[in-house]
Amino acid sequence: MNSHDDLLKKFETDLNAITTLEEYQRLETNYLGRNGSINQELKKIKDLSVEARREFGEAVNKIKQDIEQQLSLKKQALLTTETLLIDVTLPGTPYPKGSLHMVTLAIEEISRIFEHIGFIRMSYPEIEWEHFSFETLNMPKDHPARDDFETFFVNAPPHKTYGKMVLSPHTSSGQNREMLRVGKPPIRMINIAKCYRPNWDATHVPMFHQFEGVCIDESVTITHLKGTIDYFAKEFFGEKRETRLRPFHFQFTEPSFEVDITCDVCDGTGYVSSVIPSASEESSQRRNALLDPSLIVQDDKVKCKVCKSGWLELGGAGMIHPNVLTAGNIDPEKYTGWAFGIGVERVMMMKGGINLDDLRIMYSGDVRFLEQF
Ligand code: DAH
Repeated sequence: MNSHDDLLKKFETDLNAITTLEEYQRLETNYLGRNGSINQELKKIKDLSVEARREFGEAVNKIKQDIEQQLSLKKQALLTTETLLIDVTLPGTPYPKGSLHMVTLAIEEISRIFEHIGFIRMSYPEIEWEHFSFETLNMPKDHPARDDFETFFVNAPPHKTYGKMVLSPHTSSGQNREMLRVGKPPIRMINIAKCYRPNWDATHVPMFHQFEGVCIDESVTITHLKGTIDYFAKEFFGEKRETRLRPFHFQFTEPSFEVDITCDVCDGTGYVSSVIPSASEESSQRRNALLDPSLIVQDDKVKCKVCKSGWLELGGAGMIHPNVLTAGNIDPEKYTGWAFGIGVERVMMMKGGINLDDLRIMYSGDVRFLEQF
């Protein structure tokens, strides 16, 4: 029986040495596991005489119960201490939080701005027919103006009336659909949607966004167009910004304009001061490195590198062409209207003063970039 006393003593020494639940698990396996000390002892029974077996068995069982009891007490004690070791006042690990994409945020803001002046937000198909993308916009088949809107064609059977299926190359496709939906003016719509053109370089991505404003009623004039664009520019970019309409050509408007907005870097003057207060030799060296001598006009003035003229291009606009109104079953003798189309990515970059040398990063899915907005 001496060996049993030793076993128990050894167990008690081991038990006293453990301080964690992990060590406890190991100890429990060492003694009570399948190959643990107790089972090793029990295996010896078969070598004993029949008379000795009973006494031996009882002794081992007694030790086993003893060990089980002590282990159970130890486990309770360890559980209590380990629980107490958890400091519930410690700050938790912050869960990584997602955020809306910068373009989504811009779209929400644009919608809100136009909602305030009674424009309803519409969404029209991204997968469109040529009919709505071109024909109804006064660009009949084979018209060279279609080339300006390089287009993705969908590999699908053409429609008898509507022609081929395309990925909508501009939000202007929604103009005719909105006229048909409303039926009788007034119409005040803002259509914000994805557009597709097969371009892929630092300033173009094949999928981008535009917002299209359309206003049709009796006696609608260019003045209303200018007023609306001014309102948008001031709401979106800030009170100081001015806009201008510059004559241009679009097939679906007459007259047509490109819309410009004053540059915020030079406040619309086209020049910035080259005199940057420089406290140290190092900062004056840095300043000189930034100045492009070819842009210097006078000692203290350089041409603004961002716009070079005081103006930045915002988008296209114009008075809706009578043929476009007619295609939408609206009598051009009775009603007039205007429309504009502006790029969302473009206004967003202009607003934030974000100087991206490559627009594609917006759609790279790189969280290190995206989470800054
Ligand atoms: N659809 C034109 C484009 O994608 C933009 C545009 C120009 C829209 C003039 C208009 C407009 O509504 O009147 O380049």
